[in-house]
Amino acid sequence: MKLDTTYMGLALKNPIIAGASPLTASVDSIKRLEDAGAAAIVMHSIFEEQINHEAHEIDHFLFKGSESYAEAVGFFPEMELSNLESEHYLEEISALKKSLSIPLIASLNGISKGGWINYATKLQEAGADGLELNITYIPADIDLEGRIVEKLYLDALETVLSVVDIPISIKMNAIFSSPANMAKQFDQMGAKGLVLFDRPVHVDIDIENLNAVQTINPSTSHDMSESLRWSAILYKKIAASLCVSTGVSSHEDVLKAMMSGADTVQMVTALMQHGEGHITKVLKDLVAWMEEKEYISIEQMKGSISLNHSSNPAAFQRGNYMRILTDYRY
Ligand SMILES: Cc1cc2nc3c(=O)[nH]c(=O)nc-3n(C[C@H](O)[C@H](O)[C@H](O)COP(=O)(O)O)c2cc1C
Repeated sequence: MKLDTTYMGLALKNPIIAGASPLTASVDSIKRLEDAGAAAIVMHSIFEEQINHEAHEIDHFLFKGSESYAEAVGFFPEMELSNLESEHYLEEISALKKSLSIPLIASLNGISKGGWINYATKLQEAGADGLELNITYIPADIDLEGRIVEKLYLDALETVLSVVDIPISIKMNAIFSSPANMAKQFDQMGAKGLVLFDRPVHVDIDIENLNAVQTINPSTSHDMSESLRWSAILYKKIAASLCVSTGVSSHEDVLKAMMSGADTVQMVTALMQHGEGHITKVLKDLVAWMEEKEYISIEQMKGSISLNHSSNPAAFQRGNYMRILTDYRY
């Protein structure tokens, strides 16, 4: 069975990538992921604040107005920042490259155009095969126009592209006014992969202690919905590879991602719940399903349920939306 695929120009033996998480923060765990069959690793993120905690731009963008009222302090957690982390991250890459035989993708999380971008060259020198940019930014300033926020993302990508040669992917979010157009702009600028999507931490309110809390909620297969939608829309519309992330936990989920048009998937929650060995089971079940249905390769099924052949994907989406709401009975 041919499970091989290509992602960001990297040849992968199968479509399952272990996503950025605590699982990809230790050499031992990364080795276990490789042994279980992971085709590539995205390391845990190194944050701009850890690289250059004196950057003034980050203060301007992220912490403006954060002291306004005490109860909201949970929305703006204090961070202990250390440059030691960034040195350690580079050492980790060098060490891992000596023992891994699968591609290692570094994960850089930032937003400003500050000095941290030069750190991208160090990631390349340390041996990273690719770089995933996670540009997480919640535009809480009511005066900040959408086009300025979009430019922030594009500028960050452009700056990193100008300093490295390794392929870069963008961990996107689906809350742009026009995610497809943002995808096109990232693609045209030179991004080689798009991860659909980032899963921001969730906000809740602790009504007993009267404060805001931020949590990471485990995903389920239902959470794949937006990723499948946009993968199906973007398939064959852009040159960059597509990676469905969020909610992928079983071989059925991998199949859905491929059929929607993705080249790869990233898994985190399922691996944290079931252990690294879960990848072995998913791959085994994937092969069994494909054999039963007489598929011979992943390539053969890619995009088979995409919107590539729809002349008007927006009308198609709206038509389905209307039909589901009007036909619904209880
Ligand atoms: C505990 C935890 C830590 C994470 N750390 C990072 C990180 O450092 N950088 C990043 O880009 N994403 C991080 N993520 C997000 C995951 O890479 C992934 O995008 C998200 O969990 C959705 O995939 P899943 O549904 O398989 O969990 C983290 C997720 C979890 C659960």
